[in-house]
Amino acid sequence: MSRILITSALPYVNGVKHLGNLAGSMLPADVFARFCRACGHETLAICATDEHGTPAELAAAEAGEEVAAFCARWHERQRELGEAFGLSWDHFGRTSSPQNHAFTQHLADRLDANGYIEERTIRQVYSLEDERFLPDRYVVGTCPHCGYDRARGDQCENCTRVLDPTDLLEPRSAISGLTRLEVRESRHLYLLQSKLVDRLRQWIGSQTEWPHLVTSIALKWLDEGLQDRGITRDLKWGVPVAHDGKWEGLAGKVFYVWFDAPIGYIGATKEWADLDPKARDWERWWRLGKGADAVRYVQFMGKDNVPFHTVGFPATLLGSGEDWKLVDVIKGVNWLTYYGGKFSTSQRRGVFMDQALEVLPADYWRYYLTANAPEGSDSSFTWEHFAATVNKDLADVLGNFVNRLLKFSTARFGETVPAGGAPGPEEAALLPALAARMAAYKGHLEAIELRKAMGELRAIWVLGNEYLARAAPWVAIKTDPERAAIIIRTGINLARLMALLSWPVIPGTAERILAAVDPALADRAGGIVRWPSGSIEDEMSRLGPGAPIAVPGLLFRKLDPEEVAALEARFGGADAAPAPGK
Ligand code: 2FM
Ligand code: ZN
Repeated sequence: MSRILITSALPYVNGVKHLGNLAGSMLPADVFARFCRACGHETLAICATDEHGTPAELAAAEAGEEVAAFCARWHERQRELGEAFGLSWDHFGRTSSPQNHAFTQHLADRLDANGYIEERTIRQVYSLEDERFLPDRYVVGTCPHCGYDRARGDQCENCTRVLDPTDLLEPRSAISGLTRLEVRESRHLYLLQSKLVDRLRQWIGSQTEWPHLVTSIALKWLDEGLQDRGITRDLKWGVPVAHDGKWEGLAGKVFYVWFDAPIGYIGATKEWADLDPKARDWERWWRLGKGADAVRYVQFMGKDNVPFHTVGFPATLLGSGEDWKLVDVIKGVNWLTYYGGKFSTSQRRGVFMDQALEVLPADYWRYYLTANAPEGSDSSFTWEHFAATVNKDLADVLGNFVNRLLKFSTARFGETVPAGGAPGPEEAALLPALAARMAAYKGHLEAIELRKAMGELRAIWVLGNEYLARAAPWVAIKTDPERAAIIIRTGINLARLMALLSWPVIPGTAERILAAVDPALADRAGGIVRWPSGSIEDEMSRLGPGAPIAVPGLLFRKLDPEEVAALEARFGGADAAPAPGK
């Protein structure tokens, strides 16, 4: 047994997250965390809302709310929705917590003490009406290269050229649309990442468990020449730069959101520990000298976050000179798209977590999004594909197996596992096939190859369904009730095993199956469904004659073409997606 620390990229606080956010980090992190707990590993799953930065300030202003109240409200809503999706975080914290403020300031102090921070004067656009400095992308104007009139100050979307806000012709504020802008000087802290390149390259080079996608993104950043990075901003909401008598000249400024957000993993761990300080110790998870050298740390995120986790955050931790635990495995994935286009929070394109749960319970989504995880390449959500997957894998295979088996069993043998009969050739063939699939499934989960894992899980469900169809207890019962009894007993044990194996991905359904076939296990304390660890023969004979059983209600319903059409009309189908590149 080992100790596993799992973090998922921290969702921005502003608004309900879409299924792309869920599929890219929070859901795979949860499936893996549940699997680790099931296997008996001491597991700590941490997430939090990413609350600082201009988008949060602007969204609060748009909502007419104080930013602190806005963040508190959305943090709570995101927690609620995550829990409704079965996300079993040990703690869902906030980057605005006092703990995160303290770690952020502490790490900045350490970086400074080690010579990795420099104060520089930069020229920035100030909006007289908005009474604030404008971050580059909040200055818009005409691109000097292609004439596009809505180019942003950091990049022109039309010709993709990288810009400086002062390059723009007829610049205006993206916040107010007003044009009374001037360039002012402002002092900021820079993290001298260029001094850390060799250590980063050495560290990245020594990683053996990162997917190719992750390593290639990390090396690309280093190869292109790592720039020193401004880590402070002229904003009100955030972690103050001036603290404890230090950097008084920078009073009124805060650390850049991408500096404090990953530190939020540590901050949220401390929040968790502070809730029960006698029993919990954050340092065991984060400080090598305090036991964290025995921790395996796995991070989950979409590919856009990879540079900040392979370069930015490690630079902060390495540069501190302290013994921080660095990540072991970065599970970075591609995009889940909506009909081939982007899910978009600002344009409300796609399906959002609250809406998804209005349509169907969490397990339908959990399975679909895990089985179609955008691991090797982007994967596209369409209602047709979703319905086909639900109808086939969940309703026709798993649901049909369990419902049909238990209905027949209770109708013919009553509400206990039937006695009689002995395993024959069908059962003898089933067990090794099952054992092989289980081993492959576990291997894929250990490797965090979730798409492949779901392929094996589906194959296990299919094995059960095919076994039942071939063994046909409804035929056997007419001439050989003993034979029917052993088939049913085998089937019930298989249903139990399927529940144990399916729990990491569809916990709600697994609990319902267990409540029907193994009520004692379903009532267990601690909430964790243990991974089957006995021999296949033992696991397939846990439920003996006389054990109580019941019929669960329908486990999964199907979506018919009319409903799919109605969902497409409600959410927008192919026509809702932008053309590529737009
Ligand atoms: O891209 C995002 O959604 C960011 N909020 C992720 C932050 S991850 C971590 F560093 F906090
Ligand atoms: Zn342009």
